[in-house]
Amino acid sequence: MIKKIGVLTSGGDAPGMNAAVAGVVRAAHAKGIEVYGVRDGYLGLINGWFEKLDIDFAQNIMNRGGTALGSARLPEFKEVSVREKAVKNLKDFGIEALVVCGGDGSYMGAQRLTEMGINCIGLPGTIDNDIVSSDYTIGFDTALNTIVESIDKVRDTMQSHNRCGVIEVMGNQCGDLALYAAIATGAEVFSNSESKLSEDEIVEQVTKLKKAGKRSVIVIVSENIYDSAALAKKIEAGSGYVTRATVLAHTQRGGIPTAMDRHLAVTTATYAVEQLAEGKGGLYVGLDGTDLIARDIESTLNMPRKDQSNKIKTFRLLNSQFGK
Ligand code: F6P
Repeated sequence: MIKKIGVLTSGGDAPGMNAAVAGVVRAAHAKGIEVYGVRDGYLGLINGWFEKLDIDFAQNIMNRGGTALGSARLPEFKEVSVREKAVKNLKDFGIEALVVCGGDGSYMGAQRLTEMGINCIGLPGTIDNDIVSSDYTIGFDTALNTIVESIDKVRDTMQSHNRCGVIEVMGNQCGDLALYAAIATGAEVFSNSESKLSEDEIVEQVTKLKKAGKRSVIVIVSENIYDSAALAKKIEAGSGYVTRATVLAHTQRGGIPTAMDRHLAVTTATYAVEQLAEGKGGLYVGLDGTDLIARDIESTLNMPRKDQSNKIKTFRLLNSQFGK
């Protein structure tokens, strides 16, 4: 039976990462396993930044946003010599296995460490919801709630002034935050990487809404597709609505995690500790419907993206009455 495990958070932080760490600490303690937190993700592994975590620490961070352990992106972890340093530090410290909470960029490192003798289990921690083998990721629900709250506020003022608001949301290459927010806020137009509109198509849709007498319009766009300020100017010139752009940026990454994110974090963390205690590694834990599953990291690397066509259809149906 293993006696010491480590836990780290990696990549962009996500609300609920602290609850995941707390879950690891509580589940491991229940099994008589000591837990060491690694500061700043993989960077801490190669520098030996380890500290023992106790139940009080878990209790104190459970409901906090961000990640108390710190996070970093470390592309150098792809190099064998860098990983060898990490393995040596872990072995010197007697840490036999590791839980890695982060986005898909973190899983390759976890897989490689497993191959080098340190069993690792990944937890899906990212606001982007872009981990194909999990229906939802830790942080997505909180970020979505933040986005919805912000859009509701923008709607108030757009409606007062008979304007159009362009809202740019995060998600990296994944359009889930944009799509879910569009459905949840009653936005009139949305565009993400899976259902991308040209700038001219957006202007055309907004213009139809103007002609149909719509008092306010919300256009939600995923990051990295357009220059939102320039798009707002184009919409204004084409449609006649005074148009303002709001880039929500890092407001989406912070904040107190929602109950759903905490629940997902604690249950996946507990499941991960159970896998490690059984001597397993090279897996990551996700949600399949309402069931927790642990899949081979290797097998999930080429899994196809989750299909969102039904949700896109729903959005289109809800907005089909305009511009007829
Ligand atoms: O992966 C999370 C995320 O917030 C993405 O949505 C976004 O593209 C990226 O990180 C931003 O990264 P940074 O904080 O390094 O600018």
